[in-house]
Amino acid sequence: MDVREPLGRLRLGINIDHVATVRNARGGNYPDPLRAAKLAEEAGADGITAHLREDRRHISDADIDGLMEVLSVPLNFEMAATEEMQKIALRHKPHAVCIVPEKREEKTTEGGLELAREENRIAHFIAPLADVGCRVSIFIAADRRQIEAAARIGAAVVELHTGAYCDAHAEGRFEERDAELERLREMAALAHELGLEVHAGHGLTYDTVAPVAAFPEVMELNIGHFLVGEAIFLGLGPAIAEMRRLMDAARA
Ligand code: PXP
Repeated sequence: MDVREPLGRLRLGINIDHVATVRNARGGNYPDPLRAAKLAEEAGADGITAHLREDRRHISDADIDGLMEVLSVPLNFEMAATEEMQKIALRHKPHAVCIVPEKREEKTTEGGLELAREENRIAHFIAPLADVGCRVSIFIAADRRQIEAAARIGAAVVELHTGAYCDAHAEGRFEERDAELERLREMAALAHELGLEVHAGHGLTYDTVAPVAAFPEVMELNIGHFLVGEAIFLGLGPAIAEMRRLMDAARA
């Protein structure tokens, strides 16, 4: 148990990518990710996250146009560090951009950005985005080298990849899960000490959210796949409300 006071209210960002995955399975307009985003807002989402992948496998350019028009909460625009994506972000100026690694052959964003290896390139890449007022976040593993690099390049936020922790839990590797959680805890504290706002996400579920929500430095969680799945059983609003309840209980 962490006995320190949380630094503030924990925000919940809802990732709607996989509403678009279901839509794209049939190639039409249904179900509409914008409708899901508005429902998520009504259910208490503090932000909407969408990843425009280079291969457009889920979210489309038109979805981003629509989200920028209809959202009342901030859009967190996830993107690879490519020239094409930078142009799109500079045109829309979303509240936040989250720089993620991208591999075409992966099913999802498997790891964090290897920022330490391409620190100079990413520093130059994010500067114009920060200049137009986007809050720049870097999606990285809970790793000291990556966090120190994020601080050096002047990122506002780091989002810590919780996938390894969640996978270890799902696969019953509990010692490894606890070690991953400890790493996340220590690295959240380090990132905060270095002046970075700390977010976390990837793979979080009702079973795994509480310990991460309890880290006092974590200010935002971004959750998608599990909630879109759970919406099949509960409906999107109730699925989000339950996640919110668990986060608040863990934070209390
Ligand atoms: N945060 C980032 C940076 C992501 O890339 C993703 C998944 O695309 C998420 C959060 C949400 O992960 P999940 O869909 O597994 O909840």
